[in-house]
Amino acid sequence: MTAHYQVHGDVAVITLDNPPMNGLGLSTRQGIARALEQAIEDAAVRAIVITGAGKAFSSGADIKEFGSPKAYQDPNLISVINALEASPKPVVAALHTVVMGGGLELSLGCHYRITAPGASVALPEVKLGLIPGAGGTQRLPRAIGVEPALNLIVSGEPVKSELLAQIPGQKLFDKLAASADSLMDEALALAREAAAKHAAGEPLPRLRDLPCKHPQGDGYFQFARNMVRGMAKHFPAPVKCVDAVEAATKKKFDEGMAYERETFVNLMMTPECMALRHLFVAERAASKIPDVPADTPQRTVAKVAVIGAGTMGGGISMNFLNAGIPVTILEMKQEALDRGLATIRKNYEAQVAKGKLKQDIYEQRMALLSTTLKYQDIADADLVIEAVFEEIGVKEQVFRQLDAVIKPGAILATNTSTLDVNKIAAFTQRPQDVVGMHFFSPANVMKLLEVVRGEKTAKDVLATVMAIGKKIKKTCVVAGVCDGFIGNRMIEQYSRQAGFLLEEGCTPQQVDQAIEKFGFAMGPFRMGDLAGNDIGWAIRKRRYVEKPHLRYSKTADLLCEMGRFGQKTGAGWYDYAPGKRDAIPSPVVVEMIERHRQALGITPRQIADEEIVQRLVYALVNEAAHILEEGIASRPSDIDMVYLTGYGFPVHRGGPMHYADFVGLFNVAEAMKRFARNPHDDAQFWQPAPLIRRLLAEGKTFADLNR
Ligand code: NAI
Repeated sequence: MTAHYQVHGDVAVITLDNPPMNGLGLSTRQGIARALEQAIEDAAVRAIVITGAGKAFSSGADIKEFGSPKAYQDPNLISVINALEASPKPVVAALHTVVMGGGLELSLGCHYRITAPGASVALPEVKLGLIPGAGGTQRLPRAIGVEPALNLIVSGEPVKSELLAQIPGQKLFDKLAASADSLMDEALALAREAAAKHAAGEPLPRLRDLPCKHPQGDGYFQFARNMVRGMAKHFPAPVKCVDAVEAATKKKFDEGMAYERETFVNLMMTPECMALRHLFVAERAASKIPDVPADTPQRTVAKVAVIGAGTMGGGISMNFLNAGIPVTILEMKQEALDRGLATIRKNYEAQVAKGKLKQDIYEQRMALLSTTLKYQDIADADLVIEAVFEEIGVKEQVFRQLDAVIKPGAILATNTSTLDVNKIAAFTQRPQDVVGMHFFSPANVMKLLEVVRGEKTAKDVLATVMAIGKKIKKTCVVAGVCDGFIGNRMIEQYSRQAGFLLEEGCTPQQVDQAIEKFGFAMGPFRMGDLAGNDIGWAIRKRRYVEKPHLRYSKTADLLCEMGRFGQKTGAGWYDYAPGKRDAIPSPVVVEMIERHRQALGITPRQIADEEIVQRLVYALVNEAAHILEEGIASRPSDIDMVYLTGYGFPVHRGGPMHYADFVGLFNVAEAMKRFARNPHDDAQFWQPAPLIRRLLAEGKTFADLNR
């Protein structure tokens, strides 16, 4: 049982005790139901208080039960809430710290509510593609009014209890406690008051009995639906929140409850909801490394040094400054430092101008930043992140210097995107302290951080880097050492397919539009123009030497030979008006592609959007399967996190691996075999990876490999 029963004189206290957040799992629900029965049967008890132990009243559903049948096993949450509401003795909810989801719904079934100040109150179900499913959409509008309730439900964001208490005429909180310390005493007093009123013949107040109306009725809900539809175009849940709250204003309470239930159950089965729930679990899983226990000791990181003040060095430094950690940037020349510092200032000042950052906070952050040209000045850094030119000779020089100067026990990280982290580690006498921290550009904005684990990287180094990554608000995913790690290794296959599609008959805009309609933030060609087509060119030149057997479309090389590097040169796959970022289809590029096709002797064909999407996405999936097999990624959901947070993969599709499971691995493999028969494609690449074949043979999915 994870709910306890105690009696304080004539008041029974039920305490949820399911750490860390008092999730309403089966044993907690059973505990509440049993304690309630006991309180009702005990003649000495006149009223009941329900509260949460530790650092939450309750955060709602128990994530350990997520998606399992246990979550719905009796007594389910609705039954427990009904039982509280039907109690013949008054029930007071004593709320504090975190009152979310099912936790808030539970309290709405009580007769009275008292809250400590500072409690975060939310119905976050919409973030998982759902609506509140235990009366939240029916009781909350009755408690605080239709508009505030809908705002809370549609945003899923927390609001502080004292703000909600200020809503005129609200019935959510009967009392705001003076402090968290006095909450229980005040709750017991409120319970006794309630018992006295009840004994004097006053009926127990129930939110379900209150009226629920909006003065503008239909007009307001139409307006709300239009607003919400525009903001959440790929997700059905926000509009369903509006429908459910509207039902609260138009239907009898029990009918509204039935409507909410039916909507909740239907949403549960939608691909969007499955994707969001997958993302929720994947995000938490990514922070765990199978062979590095959660209690692995961590090293202290109080001072950071960044080597190189270029594109990446500046952005990386900002992450630490934003988290209040002092940074020293080291460069070769003063001019480079000045340039880097000016860029950091410009970035912060733009945030200040937009009202996103306060001037004094900006100044506090800049005060944490220092610069130097001498290694001696960073000798006592706890973490050094190298972001110098991508040349192994330069990396060698830097790491030998770091090894000679930096204090023992410091973590030495490289931001390399293509070089061998093991080789870099071997430039030092302390390879156990060396790790890859692969940030994505712009490093102060992008959520993804690939933590690259070298052969000799120590476990406490990994644990520390994962923790510091979290502190600077990154999504950290561990990758093994290989060319391109997880994300870039996969994107190379995606780009190759994009090139072949041009050769076979597509235009760049057709490919971009197809994959953008699928939900990607940006198609491969618009992306290339943004990042600079010369980056891929440099990588291909290297590939032509290293892997001469591998075929690439030459269209991208021809484009670069024309000097069309993208937005920075005013022309790439598309044309750009001076100073503008709108991609305009380019006749010059179309003609270049046609000439190239003729030279190859390819007769262009109409290619359906479906084939474009399948070839691009399944290219990611097949390469990812090789990555998993080689142990470069620990689990399929980690790969999904990389693509969702670093590559603009549509969130409502849940990432490439989740999407492949959704389509069905059999269908994915069949499509791959079909592509292998295309004479203009790469038959070798399209052999389904051994892992996919094995999963198919065993009747399993990628999800079965998540741990
Ligand atoms: P960058 O060329 O903008 O900056 C490199 C900076 O390092 C320059 O300011 C240069 O003066 C400085 N530098 C060079 N040698 C040095 C030395 N021996 N000591 C101190 N400073 C030195 O390059 P960028 O784009 O910032 O890339 C840096 C690293 O980050 C590379 O390893 C790159 O592969 C990696 N990376 C780059 C990404 C990008 O999108 N630009 C994304 C992820 C990783």
